[in-house]
Parts: sequence; C-alpha cells; structure tokens
Amino acid sequence: MSWQDRTGLLDELSTGSSPRGALWLTTNPGLEDVVADELSERLAAIGIDSSAVAIERKPVGFSGNVIALLPRVDGDVEHAACSLRSVHHVARPLFGFELVSVEQDGLDTIATQLMTRGVSALEAEHVNSFRVTTRRSGTHAFGSMDVQRRAGAALVERYALGVDLHTPDCEVRVDVIDDRCLVGVQLTATSLSRRKQRQYNPRGAIKSNVAYAMLRFAGLSSGRMIDPFCGSATIPIEAAQVYPDLDIEASDYSERAVVGARRNVRSGALSERIDVRHRDMRDLPEHHAADSFDAIVTNPPFGVRIGRGMNFLTFYSRFLDVAAHLLKPGGLLVLLAWKRGVIDRANRPRGQFRRNHVRVVETGGIFPRIYVLQRR
Ligand SMILES: C[S@@+](CC[C@H](N)C(=O)[O-])C[C@H]1O[C@@H](n2cnc3c(N)ncnc32)[C@H](O)[C@@H]1O
Repeated sequence: MSWQDRTGLLDELSTGSSPRGALWLTTNPGLEDVVADELSERLAAIGIDSSAVAIERKPVGFSGNVIALLPRVDGDVEHAACSLRSVHHVARPLFGFELVSVEQDGLDTIATQLMTRGVSALEAEHVNSFRVTTRRSGTHAFGSMDVQRRAGAALVERYALGVDLHTPDCEVRVDVIDDRCLVGVQLTATSLSRRKQRQYNPRGAIKSNVAYAMLRFAGLSSGRMIDPFCGSATIPIEAAQVYPDLDIEASDYSERAVVGARRNVRSGALSERIDVRHRDMRDLPEHHAADSFDAIVTNPPFGVRIGRGMNFLTFYSRFLDVAAHLLKPGGLLVLLAWKRGVIDRANRPRGQFRRNHVRVVETGGIFPRIYVLQRR
C-alpha cells in the first residue's frame, strides 16, 4: 500500500475544506482495499503518484465504498477510474450529512440538504434530465424508493428539470447507510462489474469484479492456472483479459455449464486463450500430472442454489486432495466458499495447505469467504 490511508475525507468534502478533486467508488463490502490498490496503480500509470492520493475505505462505516482525494480529477482520471475492474460504480462525491435531526425525519433532511446545497452538475447546459439512484442499508422508516422520490422532487423543485428513469443526462446518487447520507454524481451508467461479452449468465455466477479480486490474490501474471468449477467461466475470462501471458484451463462437470462457458469465451474472442473442458473435479488427476498448475482460482458450489444437501466436509476434503495433486509446491489455491469453517476442517488433518489469507466478502446478500491457501 503506497496511498495515504485516511479518515474524515467525507467531512472534508462536506465542509468544502479540501481543494482537491475526489472520487467515490463502490464495490462489494470486503473489497475496499483491492479498489484502493487498483486505483492507485491506475493513477500512477497516468502520472499521479500514489503518495499524493488519500484514500478512505468505508467512510463513516459505508462498507463497499471508497473515497479518494486526488491532486486533480480531469478526463484522464475519470477515464482511468471508469476502467477499474474491481468496482461497480464511479461517482464524484459532493457532500455527506447526518440524517438524525431533532425537528425533521430522515427524508425531510435529505430534501432540505439537496435543496440548499444543490447538485451543480444539474446546472450544466447539456443536462435536461436526471434521475436519483439510492442504495440503502440499515433500519429506517422509509425505503430506497422513498429516498429516490423525495430527493428527486427536491431537485425538480430547485432545477426545474425532467426526471428520466432510463437514459438520464445526469445520475445523482443519494446513498443512505444507517444515520448517514452521501450524495454524488454517478459517472457510470451501468455497473462496471457487468462485463459486456457475457451471453450465458446463470444465477450462481459471481461478479466479474469479485473474480478480479480473487485473481489479484493469486498474484499470477504468467504460468498456468485452472478453474475446476468454472460455471459460466467468469474467473477464466477475467484472467485472460487481465493477464495476457497466463495459460488458462476451465472445467465443469455440468454439460450445460460447459456449453455456456464456451459461448462466453467465444463471444469474448478468447477461445485461443481458454481451454474449456467437460470434467468432474474428482477426475482431474487422471488428466493432469502432479504439479501441473501454478494457481487454482475457483468458486465451488456454495450449497445455496447448487449443491444443497451435499456433504461439504467430504466434498472439500476431496477437492483439497485434488488441488494438492494439481498444484506445484508453493502454488496458490484461491477459493470463494460459503460454508463457514469447513475448508479449515478439511485442511487441518491433511496439512497440505498453509492458510495465507481469509476475508469475508458480501455478494448477492450472502457473506462467503475468500481463502488463499498455499500448497506446502
Ligand atoms: C458456484 S458455481 C461456479 C460459478 C462460476 N464461478 C461462474 O461465475 O459462473 C459452481 C460450479 O461447480 C460445478 N460443480 C459442482 N460440482 C462439481 C464437480 N464435482 N466437478 C466439476 N464441477 C462441479 C457446478 O456445475 C457449477 O457450475
């Protein structure tokens, strides 16, 4: 980490005491540091030294959010931010405030703040319409739609603009988490984690930005990797796009998944890069000699939609044996798993892997863990 780790950036923004530019990035809760690292790398590539970048992860407890204060925010910076792979949305933060007020309820406070402080982007000549988008978490007497309606009405009153829910000229973001509200102008129309080339998108697929984070943990830019539970090939496709020198294999025991994965690989023009096979994980040692791979990056069934009723201890024990066969000594197994403690229980008696890292990531309303295990 070379960026400055800071707190209180939201307050600096709110009081206007910071003369610099700022960015607001959203991601899955648990991946804030990945966003901060990727952002500082991208900024360095356009000549902004990371020591000049102050980053606050989870400002005032807003998990899944990152605020960065930069020496400048111009078209180059916005372009760099909008090509980040670890984020969902990029916005310019405007101000934050507390919702609790003696005389007013939360929605009144939001409306008053928007009316008095305004959103200057809505004054631009080309802006004829806007919409308000809200993410809300915590316990409130109102829902996200209420925030959108009330904030939208306040801005219509102030700027006399039309509301366009589908293709607005400007998207105002008003997020509410517990007793805090953060307002900004969103620069991304659709989530950056929704990569364009996907044609087969099963419900169990992970988000591409989570796949990207897992690949970063594997720290592999060349060599050989495999995803033995590839599903729609989210992880292999992300790997092929980010690391041009990686040799990538993907496999799954479901014929439907293999057909879908191949479609996604083809539509991403990556057939030359990713070898998709129809294989049961348990049979992989028959197809690969020991120590064949430098990394395994994968997302086995969680047992939510796929794998209900499975004995996960037996399943992971078998998988760890297979992974120990496939990986070179020192090779990394990065996996996203939901069954708490089962990986450790499977690994402990075998001792094939050292646990280098574990973290919880929120995705789709559940809280799986990313494990980084190293083959001894
Ligand atoms: C959670 S999904 C993977 C989702 C994938 N990461 C994506 O983004 O689409 C788990 C996958 O493991 C596959 N699977 C389950 N048991 C398997 C086994 N024994 N061998 C190979 N694949 C298996 C399922 O068919 C499913 O596609």
